[in-house]
Amino acid sequence: MKIAQILSASALCLSLVACSQAPENKDAVIENKINALLNQMTLEEKLGQMNQISASANIEEMTVLIKKGEIGSILNEVEPRRINALQRVAMEESRLGIPLLFARDVIHGFKTIFPIPLGQAATFNPQVVKDGARVAAIEASAAGIRWTFAPMIDVSRDPRWGRIAESCGEDTYLNTVMGVAMIEGFQGDSLNSPNSIAACPKHFVGYGAAEGGVDYNSTYIPERRLRNVYLPPFEAAAKAGAATFMSSFNDNDGIPATGNSFILRDVLRGEWGFDGFVVSDWASTGEMLAHGFAADTKEVAMKAVNAGVDMEMVAYTYFKELPGLVKEGKVKEETIDEAVRDILRIKFRLGLFDNPYVEDNTAKMFYAPSHLEAAKQAAVESAILLKNQGEVLPLDASVKSVAVVGPMADAPYEQLGTWVFDGEKSHTVTPLAAIRDLVGNKVQVIYEPGLAYSRDKNKAGIAKAVAAASRADVVLAFVGEEAILSGEAHCLADLNLQGAQCELIAALAKTGKPLVTVVMAGRPLTIANEAELSDAVLYSFHPGTMGGPALADLLWGKAVPSGKTPVTFPKMVGQIPIYYAHNSTGRPAKHNEVLLNDIPLEAGQTSLGCTSYYLDAGFYPLYPFGYGLSYTTFKYSNVELSAKELKVGDVLTVTCDLENTGKRPGTEVVQLYVQDKVGSVTRPVKELKRFARISLKPGEKKKVSFDLPISDLAFWNIDMKKVVEPGDFSLWVAPDSQSGEETPFKVVR
Ligand code: NOJ
Repeated sequence: MKIAQILSASALCLSLVACSQAPENKDAVIENKINALLNQMTLEEKLGQMNQISASANIEEMTVLIKKGEIGSILNEVEPRRINALQRVAMEESRLGIPLLFARDVIHGFKTIFPIPLGQAATFNPQVVKDGARVAAIEASAAGIRWTFAPMIDVSRDPRWGRIAESCGEDTYLNTVMGVAMIEGFQGDSLNSPNSIAACPKHFVGYGAAEGGVDYNSTYIPERRLRNVYLPPFEAAAKAGAATFMSSFNDNDGIPATGNSFILRDVLRGEWGFDGFVVSDWASTGEMLAHGFAADTKEVAMKAVNAGVDMEMVAYTYFKELPGLVKEGKVKEETIDEAVRDILRIKFRLGLFDNPYVEDNTAKMFYAPSHLEAAKQAAVESAILLKNQGEVLPLDASVKSVAVVGPMADAPYEQLGTWVFDGEKSHTVTPLAAIRDLVGNKVQVIYEPGLAYSRDKNKAGIAKAVAAASRADVVLAFVGEEAILSGEAHCLADLNLQGAQCELIAALAKTGKPLVTVVMAGRPLTIANEAELSDAVLYSFHPGTMGGPALADLLWGKAVPSGKTPVTFPKMVGQIPIYYAHNSTGRPAKHNEVLLNDIPLEAGQTSLGCTSYYLDAGFYPLYPFGYGLSYTTFKYSNVELSAKELKVGDVLTVTCDLENTGKRPGTEVVQLYVQDKVGSVTRPVKELKRFARISLKPGEKKKVSFDLPISDLAFWNIDMKKVVEPGDFSLWVAPDSQSGEETPFKVVR
């Protein structure tokens, strides 16, 4: 692949800005058709378009509502025959024949399940992520689904929060790049194509900052932080032509997102020019009652629609309350018309008026070989090698027997991860199956799970696993979390391995056999102790349908790990929130901290080193953001800048030599970080600005080059203006957020 192609994901963003659905590209023909329809619609028919229901088992019940024009969209109906039957009622038996829009949470695959989004982010490969979304769109649309509630691009800095699994991790830029890649994959070249599905960036906005990592909790994100950290992925999504947005559950500084006209109207429509529609999250309109933000459903409907929520997911308050509110003048009919216009616009763009029915293509599309291959590649690239002491990996021909142990070694359902409604475990290939397949009779595979599932506390099986380990040359321990332990409403206060898994690893380590620990989880777990006890650690998050073959290939060196951590791995839960792009404090850590056991007895009151760290955990995380090893080694040298002084309109070109200094081919994710040294407000110590995946043969050297427009250094400053503030900057070209040599440059007026 040419360097130019892989260089910067920002090129991807730029090309997407020009994509056909860009807001300013309203199609006059469509707008005329919308107006013609609107002129014929009764208020009830308009409110029907704004109403989304969850499919009921009773098709007759839905038929009655559709005939009356009371429904605009249905979620969770995935049976093509039923979809066509319902659509026929809308097209032929409702007064105006407006098609329904069928939606589903297609988060990381429909049938063929890809790694969870956090794992996809670990690939640092937008192309792989885009391919995954394309496969998901092809499979989902084959069943009649034309709208997914994805990508989830909530910047997520708290692994206690179960939904971190669905996100692209802690970094604003990584979420931006991956979110755009997913939108491009879901929506294809044109929304109009029958295998494109409308994307829905969510959750707008700030949901990932739930206090204490507890789902649905309040957030307190001041406007500057909102704009600098949480909004950019959504802005890029809007500009990439995302068809819809979803308002989030959380209240930020006291205002539920579903009732927040600042974000839904001023920012999303006003500043970014979004012309698709906004759907509430599931009943998040009605939940404004529980928030104490509205006294009754009438106030709910008024606040949500006036704030800019066009479609209500499963709450029915619009349909019930808006007629009265319009009559009383508390909601203008133009507000309703605008909402309906936005919804119809997307239905027209999807081509639903012309092609409302699905041709049942499921048999051909589901689990197609090319889909499985793409899922395997994504799983390969999402795995992160965290440790490889003594180069125990990859396994070679000298390994004649392996003990495969642990509750995740053969757990076809669990490795699929969270938010899987349609993928079937019968199609999953587990590590155990894939290892047996790969090694055939050349290697003896001794399988002894030790524990039945990740939360299993029954230690009775551990002795058997230890016995198996003692008979083997190498121990492969597959541990982690069941799928249900992450995802919505599945937050944890303790991030250690569940059940008796820590005891299992400790017992295996005592055998003295080389111990390779593979973790399959929905979040970074606190595995400091297990990593210490293991010779190698491969972290795969939940890798999906093809996780087994991907891991088997990685373990035996048919593939080389290239994933990098998309989120900081804490040593212990008490370090959370811990993320690399924190602001500069007045007393930064000096990295030679006095720790708990260094303090003498009856020490006098002192502030020790007077710097910012924990006495018991120090300053550093277990693994920093952007970290990951390979089976080879890379040397970075000759970082050069096209200029040391640049103006705001300039483009800085940063080059660096990257050499494969090991004995195997490998791919490195080269990362470019920048720090704005002095600002009108304090600035992050580092921010990821670019990355590139570079593949090198042993001994090969390449020049890596990044183009960074200085305008990309703009931030929302003390005056709440987005500007580049001239002054001193530093950059690092590095293998992770914690390393690299600092190189200064200046921005001048
Ligand atoms: C609630 C979740 O927060 C959201 O992400 C999802 O898309 C909807 N439910 C629909 O299932």
